[in-house]
This record gives sequence, C-alpha cells and structure tokens, in this order.
Amino acid sequence: MARNKITIVGAGNVGATTAHIAATGQLGDIVLIDIVAGLAEGKALDIAEAAPVQLYDCSVTGTVDWDKSTGSDIVIITSGLPRRPGMSRDDLLAKNVGIVKDVCREIVKHSPDSIVIVVCNPLDAMVYATAKTTGFAKNKIMGMAGALDSARFGSFIAAELGVSVEDIKCVLMGGHGDDMVPLPRFTSVSGIPLEQLLDAERIAELIERTRKGGIEVVNLLGYSAYYAPGAGAVKMAEAILKDKKTVLPCCTYCDSEYDVGGFFVGVPAILGTNGVEKIIELDLNESERALLEKSVDHVKSLAAKVDKLL
Ligand code: LAC
Repeated sequence: MARNKITIVGAGNVGATTAHIAATGQLGDIVLIDIVAGLAEGKALDIAEAAPVQLYDCSVTGTVDWDKSTGSDIVIITSGLPRRPGMSRDDLLAKNVGIVKDVCREIVKHSPDSIVIVVCNPLDAMVYATAKTTGFAKNKIMGMAGALDSARFGSFIAAELGVSVEDIKCVLMGGHGDDMVPLPRFTSVSGIPLEQLLDAERIAELIERTRKGGIEVVNLLGYSAYYAPGAGAVKMAEAILKDKKTVLPCCTYCDSEYDVGGFFVGVPAILGTNGVEKIIELDLNESERALLEKSVDHVKSLAAKVDKLL
C-alpha cells in the first residue's frame, strides 16, 4: 500500500517540529518545503537521520521545489511570520496573507485533491484566505487552533488537579485570539464535570491563562510556541489520514451552525477521511453564546481585512 504523503510548508520551528512529530507517528512520507535554500533540506536530513533511533520508516525530504510535493494527501501551512513580544497575532495579517496566497497557488497546482490544515496566524483569517485562494471544498480547508488551545487548557487542568492528561476532555470554541471561548461546562475529567472538581474562581484563572497561552510562551522565548502547535497539527492530520472520526475543536466553515453566517471559526467537529465531516452543535447557554458572538465578530473583522488584501 502506498504511504500517505504529507507536505509541510515552512521549515521554521513549527514546520520542522510538525515534520518530526509526524515522522515519529509514521503518518506517511513527508515533504518539508521552504523558500530559504538549505533550511528545509537541512532540517529534513536531520529528522531522517534520527529514524534509525526512533524507528520510523517514512521518508523525510526537504526542498525548495514544489514539484516534490506533487500529489500530497495533506498540506500543512506553517509558513509566515511568527509573533515577537509586544505583537498580537493580528499584527501579522498583512504580511502573512501574501505568503499564504503564494503558497495556496502552489497547492492548487501540485496537490489539487489535498486537504489543507492552516497553522499560521492570525489563524482564522489565514484559513479564510486559504479557502478563498484555493477554492477547495469547505470540508477540505481547516485551521489548527482548537487542538492547541484545548491542549493548553487540558495541560493546566491536569497539573492543577494532579491527574493524567489522558483523563481531560476539553471543549473550546471561537477564534484563536484572546477572546477564544473555553467551555468549562463541557470539560470533564474522565466524565466528571470540571465544575465539580475545581471552584469557579480557579477555573476562570485557568481559562485566562489558556487565552493568553500563546503570548506567555512568546514572552518567555522571544518568539512563538512550536511544540504544542506542531502536536496539534499532527493530531488533526492523523485523524484525517487514519479516518479516526476524532472529535476536536478546529477552525472550519460555519454557516447556519451557531449562526456564524459563512465564516471560518473554531467549533467542535468530527475529523476523518473527508476532512471536516460534521460540526457538532452544542446547546450553549446565554453567556457562552455571547462570548462566542464576540469572538466571531472579531474573526469577521479580520476576514474583511483579508478581502481587501487578496
Ligand atoms: C500560539 C500561536 C502559535 O498560540 O498562535 O502559540
């Protein structure tokens, strides 16, 4: 059986980490692309040389040449500027729209049947730009943010309660920004509602830390996170390539769902061979709905900026 083919665009920290995690998980043959000569080649070679230690049999190729990505099943876009201290994700919009547009043209040319997972920021706006530029079916374009943000929330909850991360199930919605909407009412520890294990004040603190999770890392490192974002992107790719029907929050096209009205925003969805196979509509209460609306409004304002730039 032919192996799956995964192209990862951008060989910076997020791209290379995604490639390494995907290789360790033996998800398929990996093509790492970057416009900087030597960067993707060097990192791919390094990852390939770890194979006899970590025992993955997939090939890892680094290149500047899009021809080598031809016929990919999944393309993961990580290229674009990362955040620096003092920058919001939205500050990256103008520059990253241009990069994503160029990348999408190559994806259409070389892998017209692929499923695209967008990772670069501002996430929801870049997913919108990808959908508009590729013209791919809506179920085949999605953004990785919920996998990361819910992992952050889950890691804080597990540490707080002293329980296994395996036991935490989180739901989180909205855009990938400070107004994202973690939903404690739908978060459990092995089926036990979070609200029975932690008081409201402590939950609110963990939610706030989750919302600011990206900038917490930026302020420590001087640039954006990459281990957890890479892990989140691979989780989505794995759900699709193995047709796992994984329920994960991800940035996807919502029209009547949650009354979003035709934009890409984070919602719980089922991921399988066909990409986003179903959106799960939760019965939100009034305050949850209000938070989601605020976040969606922000995403819409970013989409309007993208429209002007495309
Ligand atoms: C973060 C960036 C990747 O949240 O958006 O760390």
